[in-house]
Amino acid sequence: MDDVFEPAASDTRAVFLRDVLNGLSKPQKSLPCQYFYDAAGSELFEQITELPEYYPTRTETAILNTHAGDMAEALGRDVLLVEYGAGASTKTRILLDALRELAGYVPIDVSEEFLLHTAQALRADYPELPVYPIVGDFMTRFGLPQDSQGQPVGFFPGSTIGNLNDDEIVQFMTAARALLGDQSQFLIGIDLRKDASILIPAYDDAAGVTAKFNLNLLTRINRELGADFDLGGFAHRAIWNDDASRIEMHLESLRMQSVHIGDRTVSFDAGETIHTENSRKFTIDSLLPLFEQTGWILKKNWLDEDRYFAVLLLSAT
Ligand SMILES: C[S@@+](CC[C@H](N)C(=O)[O-])C[C@H]1O[C@@H](n2cnc3c(N)ncnc32)[C@H](O)[C@@H]1O
Repeated sequence: MDDVFEPAASDTRAVFLRDVLNGLSKPQKSLPCQYFYDAAGSELFEQITELPEYYPTRTETAILNTHAGDMAEALGRDVLLVEYGAGASTKTRILLDALRELAGYVPIDVSEEFLLHTAQALRADYPELPVYPIVGDFMTRFGLPQDSQGQPVGFFPGSTIGNLNDDEIVQFMTAARALLGDQSQFLIGIDLRKDASILIPAYDDAAGVTAKFNLNLLTRINRELGADFDLGGFAHRAIWNDDASRIEMHLESLRMQSVHIGDRTVSFDAGETIHTENSRKFTIDSLLPLFEQTGWILKKNWLDEDRYFAVLLLSAT
C-alpha cells in the first residue's frame, strides 16, 4: 500500500527467528512480548479489554472520557497526535473528538494488518483527518511521515510502557523526545500498584482469553517459523512478582519435551517456563527520574477514584 510508511526494510522473518532462538537459549527462557501481536493476537487483546476482570482498559477509558476537555485544552490546537502501540485506537477516538483543529494522526504498531484496518476505519469516521499509519517497532528509530504537519504530541495509552524495563523506558523516552521535538507534550497511561487479588485475575481470566493470547505466541512461531510446539504441552501462568512490582506471564511446559525450530532443537524440563511478558505496576514518583533524565517533566496527571490507573501529561524540557 502506498500510504504506509515502513521505517526499515528488513527481513522480518529472520529477525523473528533470531529473537525467538536468542530468547529460548537463555537460562530463563523468554520471548519478546511484541510478538504476541499478529492479527490473531491483536484480536485476542481486544477481547481481553472487554473482560470483567481486566480493569485497565475501562478505567483508563473512564479517565479519558472524564478529562478529555482538560487534556485537549492543555494540548492546544494544530496537534499531530503520534500514538505508540495504537492497536484498535479506541481510546484515541476520545481525544480525536475533544481536540480542536487536529493536524493529523500517526498510529504506530507492529501488528500490520490490524493497524491498516484501524487506519481505514478512522479515515471513514474522520474524513477530514489525515491518518499516517507507521508499521514497525516503536523501540527502533524512525521519522515522522514527510507530508505530516502540526505540533507533534505523543500518546502511549494502555500502560504498554509497563512492558518495558527501566533501560528500555530510557531508550524509548529519549527517542520519543527526539522524534516529537522541543515543544512537544506526551500523554502516557500507567497502571498503578494495587493488591495482587485484583491484578492476578486481570491476567488470568475465568474465560481463558488471556491464556489463549499467551499460547497464540506458540501458534505464531509454529506457523511463521515452521516450529512444532505442541500447544497442549504448555499452560498459561500469571504470577505477581512483588519485589519487581510486576505481573509476569509465562508459558509452563507441562512435561519434559523437545521442540524443533528450523534446524534447532529446544529442550524443556517439566515445569520449566518461557517468560513471555512483564506488566509493571508503577507509582507515579518511581517514573519521574526516568522521565526527567530523558528530557520530560510531569505537567499534570489524572487518576480514577480507586487510584487504579493514571494518565500523565509530560512536557518536553
Ligand atoms: C497493550 S496493547 C495496547 C493497545 C491500545 N493502545 C490500548 O491502549 O488498548 C499494546 C499495543 O502495542 C503494540 N506493540 C507492542 N509492542 C510494540 C512495539 N515494540 N512496537 C510497536 N507496537 C507495539 C501491540 O501490537 C498492541 O497493539
